[in-house]
Parts: sequence; C-alpha cells; structure tokens
Amino acid sequence: MVHLRGGGGHPPPRTARERREERRRSGVTGWDPRAIPSLAGRCVVVTGGNAGIGYFTSEQLARAGARVVIAARSAEKAEAAIRSIRAQAPDAELAHVRLDLASLASVREAAEELAAFRPLHALVNNAGRVLPSRVRQLTEDGFEAIVGGNFLGHFALTTLLFPALAADGRVVGLGSDSTRMVRLEADDLWSERRYAPFRAYAFSKHAVQGFHLELARRLAAAGDGRRSLLAHPGWATNAYAAKRVGITDRDPRSQRVFEAVTGWAGQGKDRGAWPSVRAVADPDAASGTFFGPSRQLAGRPVPVTPVASSASPAFGAALWANAEQKSGIRFPL
Ligand SMILES: NC(=O)c1ccc[n+]([C@@H]2O[C@H](COP(=O)([O-])OP(=O)(O)OC[C@H]3O[C@@H](n4cnc5c(N)ncnc54)[C@H](OP(=O)(O)O)[C@@H]3O)[C@@H](O)[C@H]2O)c1
Repeated sequence: MVHLRGGGGHPPPRTARERREERRRSGVTGWDPRAIPSLAGRCVVVTGGNAGIGYFTSEQLARAGARVVIAARSAEKAEAAIRSIRAQAPDAELAHVRLDLASLASVREAAEELAAFRPLHALVNNAGRVLPSRVRQLTEDGFEAIVGGNFLGHFALTTLLFPALAADGRVVGLGSDSTRMVRLEADDLWSERRYAPFRAYAFSKHAVQGFHLELARRLAAAGDGRRSLLAHPGWATNAYAAKRVGITDRDPRSQRVFEAVTGWAGQGKDRGAWPSVRAVADPDAASGTFFGPSRQLAGRPVPVTPVASSASPAFGAALWANAEQKSGIRFPL
C-alpha cells in the first residue's frame, strides 16, 4: 500500500535505501510471480489441486521444482491434472491422495496417507465448494455442507497433518473478498437460523480466514517457527486463464458464459494462483500475512488486510473451540 502524505508541500526526501525498504515492505515489488525461487526438495500438498486455482497453484509450484501432492476427491480428475502438469513440467514429481473434505472419515484417511510424504513444507488449503446448493445441505457428519467442507474439513486436515509439517513448514488458507460483501454473523456460522447460498459461502471464508489467522497467533505464542498464511485470488475465472485440456474446459456451459461475461473485471485462474504461490514460496513472507491481487480483483500478489472480523482474536478462539468440538480432533497447540 502506498501512503500519500497529507499536509501539502513536498514529502521529506528519502534515501534510496529507505525507498527500497518501503517498497519491500509494501510488497508491491520484490516478488515476481513469473520467477519463483527454486523449490527443489520441498513437498507441497494442494487440496483441490485437480481444478481451477488449485490446479494452477500445483502447476506453478511443480515448475519451480516442488514435489506436489494433489489431494482431490476424484482420482480421474487428479490423473488428468497430473498429465496436464507433466505436459508443462516433464520432470515434475506428482502424486494423488484421495480426499473428500465433506467427510471427516475421508479426511482422517487422507491425513494418514499424506503423512507418508513427511516432512511436508506446505499445506495449501485451497479446495472449496464455490457454488453452494440452493437449499441447506449437510456433510456426511451432519454439519452445514459449505462451512463443513470448506472450513471444518480443512481444520481437521491441518490438525491431523500438523505433526508431519516441517519445522519451517507453512499452512496456506484460501480466503475471499466475499467476506467484505457479507457481514459475519458468528452466532449463525452454520446457517441454523437462516440459509442463503452466498451467505453460507462467505461464512465459510470468514471461518477459513479466522482459522488461519488464529493459527498464526498460536504458532507465535508457542514460539513455533512454522507459519500460517492466507491468500485470495480476486475474481479468477477459467474463461480468462491459459488453456489446459481436461482442466479449464470442464466447467458447465452456464458457468462458462457467466465467466466470459464477468471475468474481464478479474483475471484468469492461472494468475489467481499467484497469491497462493507467493504464500508458499516467498522466503520473506511472515506468518499471518494475507496475499491478494494488487488491484483487488486482479494484479500481482501483494500483502492485503483481512476484514476486521476475521482478524478478531475473540472470533478465532471461539471458532477454534467450536471446530475442535465438532470434529472431535484437538489441535496440538
Ligand atoms: N475463483 C475465484 O474468483 C475465487 C475467489 C475467492 C476465493 N476463491 C477460493 O479459491 C479456492 C479455489 O476456487 P476455484 O475458483 O479454483 O474453484 P473451482 O475451480 O470450483 O475448484 C474447486 C476445487 O475444490 C474441490 N472441492 C470442492 N469440494 C470439495 C470436497 N468436498 N472435497 C475435496 N475437494 C473439494 C473441487 O474438486 P472437484 O473438481 O472434485 O469438484 C476443485 O478441485 C476456493 O477455496 C475458493 O473459495 C476463489
């Protein structure tokens, strides 16, 4: 963020070093999403790495040399993603583990399989149901499906995988600008009082943001060197992304038309992956940082500020207790 100085007149002169430091802190420069540092020897898990932003996150990380494990519910779609990434990066080390975030039993099984890849250097909690049903549905475990999958599934996965995370490992959550459009009603997070599809989606993203920021606070308090970060892609569509056979052409026709009409205001999902990739790969990214596009809906990945409700320690603590109680899984922090 560039701060304009008020009060008229010229700002006091700054040295080149001060200007460099200010630019570095602002995040506007100093990170080139097309020149990711080598990730050779690093292992990254990407949930929902078979499609959309998760696919391009996986592809970009694999091109930088990371071993990428795609955690996805469809083996067929994961195999298509692996073939497509190999076409871009023939030497990529790729694997698939089955994961359905809407089932705690599936999350447990996936965590066990994923732990075999330890040490994990990053877990990207990317998957998300972005088109909620018109009526309230439940996960296999009886929780409202959107918050249950997008948030609770990732809370459980992160908790179970935490011991497999390297000492300098990272957890990256996918937030959303929907949290700026729908005010959080924390006492109805699970839409028991009222259900509306976009409201439930935005609540799931409030919860994802609240969880990853609370994790950053707990890691800092425990003196744990691992980091928790957030990323959001702005408005990212397949319609405006680089074409990948079997990946960007899978959306239903109605979605393709909607994206073609509205997507000009945002960016392709390939660029939508940039904030997630920066959160994984930028060596200077501090725990608690939230990356998003510089122009809100599109642009280079820069640090952004979450809505105040997501950053509230009171919300984070209550959410954490609620998630532990619902999942029956205690976080080791
Ligand atoms: N696109 C945007 O403009 C935008 C804006 C803000 C935030 N985001 C966030 O970015 C993330 C990715 O969005 P996207 O646009 O790339 O969406 P997308 O193209 O619809 O992809 C969603 C991915 O999540 C997976 N998924 C959904 N439910 C799942 C479940 N129960 N278990 C396991 N995987 C599941 C999907 O798997 P299947 O292929 O099997 O369905 C797919 O791989 C989401 O968290 C979303 O909230 C996106």
